[in-house]
Amino acid sequence: MTGLPLSRSPLGIAATAVGAAGFAVAAGAHVWARHIEPNLFEVRELSLPVLPTGAGRLRVLHISDIHLAVGQERKIEFLRYLATMKPDLVVNTGDNVSSAAAIPVLLDALGPLLERPGVFVNGSNDKYAAGKRNVFRYFLPDPREEGGPKDPPLPTEQMTDAFTAAGWLDLNNARGTLQMSGCDVDFVGVDDPHLDHDEFPAPDGRGDSVGQPSPAGDVAAQGRPRLRVGVMHAPYQRVIREMVEDGSDVLFAGHTHGGQLALPWFGALVTNCDLHRSQAKGVSMHHGVPLHVSGGLGANPFYNMRMFNRPEATLLTLKQRRA
Ligand SMILES: [Fe+2]
Repeated sequence: MTGLPLSRSPLGIAATAVGAAGFAVAAGAHVWARHIEPNLFEVRELSLPVLPTGAGRLRVLHISDIHLAVGQERKIEFLRYLATMKPDLVVNTGDNVSSAAAIPVLLDALGPLLERPGVFVNGSNDKYAAGKRNVFRYFLPDPREEGGPKDPPLPTEQMTDAFTAAGWLDLNNARGTLQMSGCDVDFVGVDDPHLDHDEFPAPDGRGDSVGQPSPAGDVAAQGRPRLRVGVMHAPYQRVIREMVEDGSDVLFAGHTHGGQLALPWFGALVTNCDLHRSQAKGVSMHHGVPLHVSGGLGANPFYNMRMFNRPEATLLTLKQRRA
């Protein structure tokens, strides 16, 4: 029996064409996810009705997971742009740098934002440099959780000392209060729960609302409205519950990178914590309290890929609750 070789038969030609098209799509998707979308920075804006009666509007800039590496000029330019929005408060939920060399670059890029009131907590990439590993590492268990080798340590204090010298509150397993927009804003924060470094701070003695979210119209003893804010890097359920039981009115977190890769109509593939993937970024409700998760501005530079999930900062306008 004779005939055309498979590669020259109509079936073979069609298979070759499909294979070539598939390869082209895969190569294009890789170039987009690795080199284009990670640089398409955007500001997402939303409002949250969480303020007590009597408080003025509060514009909060939430930044997270910058993972700055030396030479990321577009990201540096975007960080400087964010300061032109003149937020009332900056909330930084950690993972700022990829290496020790990036710390002075970060501090220079954040310089204008450090002139605004701010608070911060640490993530793992404020303590350890980014390690080079398989691109699919993000989608697998973290070896640090398994007692595996750690990446090189970072001079964390070099960064956190600069933050606190500028007036930002260090909320790593700590509390703090700022007065702004006619309101006492009480913060509670924890060090990175992904590394199990979180130790929830002891009650501060103002616990009239401990165990219950503050009711609308909550007024501090000094006669000023009070807002309670919880801040963490990785939004693990145990920490969310602790902050809600502590009386937080609104929570901020990062860590998820919005899943890094997402699919249309499906959303994020993973959250890298025990939050559901539908809550990988944006606002979700937890025991009646809103949690805002930032999709973040970057990722480990060795596997910084994004698809249908642009890097972001968020400008949240906090408004009074409806009566
Ligand atoms: Fe991160």
